[in-house]
Amino acid sequence: MLKIAITKGRIEKQFTELMKESGFEIESIQNKNRKLCIETKDNFKIIFAKANDVITFIEHGIVDIGIIGKDTLYENDFEDYYEILDLNIGKCYFALCSNKEYKEKEFSKRKKIATKYPKVARAFFEEKKEDVEIIKLEGSVELGPLVELTDAIIDLVETGTTLKENNLEVIERVKEISTRLIVNKVSLKFKSQEIYFFVDQLEKRIKEEKEC
Ligand code: PRP
Repeated sequence: MLKIAITKGRIEKQFTELMKESGFEIESIQNKNRKLCIETKDNFKIIFAKANDVITFIEHGIVDIGIIGKDTLYENDFEDYYEILDLNIGKCYFALCSNKEYKEKEFSKRKKIATKYPKVARAFFEEKKEDVEIIKLEGSVELGPLVELTDAIIDLVETGTTLKENNLEVIERVKEISTRLIVNKVSLKFKSQEIYFFVDQLEKRIKEEKEC
C-alpha cells in the first residue's frame, strides 16, 4: 500500500483533480468529509495535513509520498528526500511587494520586511548584500506595510488580487513556485515499482496538459 500525504486546501483540490485525470479513483477523497486519513480503491492510504507537517511525515517515514508546495520546501531545513516531479499545479511566485512609494523612497535606516518565509527572505536580501530586519508574521503578511510595521513584504503572489485590493504592488519577482511530489528515500528503495507507476501516470497527464 502506497502512503501519501497531501497538503490540505488549494493543493488538495488541484491534486485530486490531477489524480482523476490520471485515471485514479477519487470518490473516496471527495466523500471523506472531516476524515483525516482514508484508503482509496487504488490501494492508497492518504492523509491530509498542513504543509509543514507533510515534511514531518516524510521525515519520519510515515508516508512514502508527499504532495507539497515548493515554497514550503524552500523554507524548511529538512532536505533528505527526493523531489521527483513538478506537478505543474499550485503555480504562484515569491515576490518583494510594497506600496508604490517604496521604489522612490530613500532609506536612512535598515529596511523592515514582513514575511511568513524568513529563510527565503533572508536568502534574497543576503544575495543583494542588503542588511534588513526580518519580521515573521503568521498570515496576512500584507498587513506589514499597511499598518506601517514594515517597509515591504516577501510573500506568495498567485492572482495578485490581495496586493491590488490593499494598494500594494510587486517590486521584484523572487522565485517561481509550484506543487512538487516528494518521496521518502527508504520508500523509493522498497516500493520503487508502486511509486514509479503512480509518478508515471501523473507525469503522462501533466505532459498531455502542457501540449494542449
Ligand atoms: C496567500 C499569500 C497571499 C495570497 C496571494 O495567502 O500569502 O496573501 O495568498 O494570493 P492572490 O495573489 O491570489 O491574492 P493565503 O490565502 O494562503 O492565506 P494567509 O494570508 O493566511 O497565508
